[in-house]
Amino acid sequence: MKVAIVGAGMVGSAAGYALVLQNACSELVFVDLNAKRAQAEAEDIGHAVPLSGSTIVRAGGYPEIAGASVVILACGVSQRPGETRPELLSRNAEVFRAVIGEVMAVVPDAILLVASNPVDVITDISTRLSGLPAARVIGSGTILDTARFRWLIGRHLGISPGSIHGYVLGEHGDSEVLAWSSVRAGSVPLSAFAAQIGAPLTADVRSRIDTGVRRAAYTIIEGKGATWYGIGAGLARIVRAILRDEQAVLSVSTVEPEVQGVRDVALSLPRLVGAQGVSATLWPDLDADETEAFGRSAAILKEMSDSVTL
Ligand code: 2OP
Repeated sequence: MKVAIVGAGMVGSAAGYALVLQNACSELVFVDLNAKRAQAEAEDIGHAVPLSGSTIVRAGGYPEIAGASVVILACGVSQRPGETRPELLSRNAEVFRAVIGEVMAVVPDAILLVASNPVDVITDISTRLSGLPAARVIGSGTILDTARFRWLIGRHLGISPGSIHGYVLGEHGDSEVLAWSSVRAGSVPLSAFAAQIGAPLTADVRSRIDTGVRRAAYTIIEGKGATWYGIGAGLARIVRAILRDEQAVLSVSTVEPEVQGVRDVALSLPRLVGAQGVSATLWPDLDADETEAFGRSAAILKEMSDSVTL
């Protein structure tokens, strides 16, 4: 039940904090090029342990990640205001070329959980560099976009987002696909439920929710410089599914052998996540527009991945 976090910036630290508050693992190790920063985060987060559980929290170098079942990779740079996720690619690909070798030398059997952007392409790169089966290299993908989608729908309907079942697919980024046609509130198709309770999903409502999901990161980065709480909780959710072998359905990114003629592309679909990583992919029913948008998203990601030489 040991988890390592490489990259003690805001995302890695928020993930660690969420794991500690949920008492989700027995041990947590932070590794960062900036050893002082890793030590400070470990200490600050460690002070929450007596108030939440019994996690051992410390900082260290790569040798200290020995025994970790999951390694969260939150290293590299993040977006500045106005920057897109793909604009980070060359800088973060460089970071991962160095980091994956270090991690694999110590924990060749761990599950890698990639958080750095552009997360789908970095997941693909990490899969190739590590030589691990695709099932064991998981990108946080659209777990956060799916959370944003469920949250906004829940707010519109005035019901708990936990009772909204629906997913955002494809890229964690501008080409992502909000799979409206398969969303359910409880077990009722979304449009039918919305009409029943007198909160219809007009074109305007859908458009506002679409923008709210697709543009969330840009808006938050504009306001506070970066996003970290939502993704921190998303990473903790994936780690819990792995450590407890939950076989939970989560929208995460892994390399898929084929999507509408696009081969070996990392993108998000609802997937079963447990102790072995991803054990199955669930292909949702999509309407014609969603199918086309999903294929386009796959092609965009593949082109980005192909632009990286390893
Ligand atoms: C997010 O969507 C920036 O990818 C990050 O919050």
